[in-house]
Amino acid sequence: MSKLLVNGRQRLEGTVSVQGAKNSALPILAATVLTGGESVIFNCPELTDTEASARILRWLGCEVTRSGEAVIVKNDGISRHDIPDSLMRRTRSSIVFLGAVLARTGRAKLSFPGGCEIGMRPIDLHLSALRRLGAEIRERHGYLDCRAPHGLKGCKIALSFPSVGATEDIMIAACLASGTTTITNAAREPEICDLAEYLNRCGAKIHGAGEGVVVIDGVKRLGSAVHTIIPDRIAAATLLSCAAVTGSEIVLDGVISSHLGAVLPVFEQAGCSLTHRENQLRIVSPERLRGMKIIRTMPYPGFPTDAQAPLLAVSCVANGVTVFIENIFENRYRHTGELVRMGADIRTEGKIAVIEGVSGLYGAAVEATDLRGAASLVIAGLCAEGSTEISGVCYLDRGYESLERTLSSLGADIKRL
Ligand code: UD1
Repeated sequence: MSKLLVNGRQRLEGTVSVQGAKNSALPILAATVLTGGESVIFNCPELTDTEASARILRWLGCEVTRSGEAVIVKNDGISRHDIPDSLMRRTRSSIVFLGAVLARTGRAKLSFPGGCEIGMRPIDLHLSALRRLGAEIRERHGYLDCRAPHGLKGCKIALSFPSVGATEDIMIAACLASGTTTITNAAREPEICDLAEYLNRCGAKIHGAGEGVVVIDGVKRLGSAVHTIIPDRIAAATLLSCAAVTGSEIVLDGVISSHLGAVLPVFEQAGCSLTHRENQLRIVSPERLRGMKIIRTMPYPGFPTDAQAPLLAVSCVANGVTVFIENIFENRYRHTGELVRMGADIRTEGKIAVIEGVSGLYGAAVEATDLRGAASLVIAGLCAEGSTEISGVCYLDRGYESLERTLSSLGADIKRL
């Protein structure tokens, strides 16, 4: 099990490129199940989660290769409809393969993806939507057995919550359904638009992605496409957090600032100055940050739950109080106990965390238990006095493309043991 060793208090300097978005790459890779021919997905981040999706695609009969930052998926037909438990468990987002395999083959048998580190993460919205589209679904012995022998039929689906994964699963399944599917209260995340753009390039007819109502006119078959994945807004927020806590000035290359609409004002509130030029974003951070008042996580365009842990680490060393209200996942403060080991002053109760900024953190041995929590420990380590040893690095590798290499290139003292 590898660990990261961070020697804190190094100022960062320089320009780095932001990786492609994990949360676009995963549904887009799943969506290649619907396609025919060879899709080239540029800017596809090299992560354990994207590798897990590639393994599922290979199992299903696709040829998947990587060439630099591009992944090439050759789909000459899907040869199976089952996904074994060992492959399903590698990533929680494998559930979007459900709609894809069902729509392509008329059947899907895959294991139930249980809860995970940040909460229960039920899939009831996925299942009820697929049932409305005409699927018969049996849940038994930990497996979901779904059948639609005569194909799926377009219908109206109103989501009770704008779930990102459910919106993607329905969009994917509805592409090959007969007739029109309308999703209301759909998730509006930029990654939904990216998925729709890829599918439309393959010949799908999806309108309104990124808005509350998405309309999908089913088509008989999809071809393939060349697509470039959008920059990862959460990786960008993480790098901004690294600069903020170290009083640094860095430039992020390849950023879509509008995707960070709810995040950037929080850095400004903390006293950082931000300037954008084309797709570059420069952050200049003060010697001492200010508390950020109240941050509520919300569906997009609100403040993203995935940026909560990184910004919470920032708030630990900001002068004053910051209150977080985590509205999306029920168990997303597990990193706070580790930050307290590093000298942070944090109290949590239910969905609320109250952080009283301290003048400095100190290094400690800490353990990551989820992806964004791992990032928060790296951020804390960068500004802590002395060395921080972070275990549970496998979580970091699920969503960040060698974060330690990126940070080293900016002057951080961080290495993998
Ligand atoms: C996606 C992102 C994840 C992000 C999350 C919220 C990917 C691969 N992952 O996860 O990084 O943190 O969006 O922005 O894109 N829910 C139900 N029933 C369902 C589905 C969801 O109750 O059938 C609940 C969840 O438990 C959670 C909330 O809805 O409380 C949001 O979940 P959802 O938007 O579906 O997140 P994911 O797609 O799993």
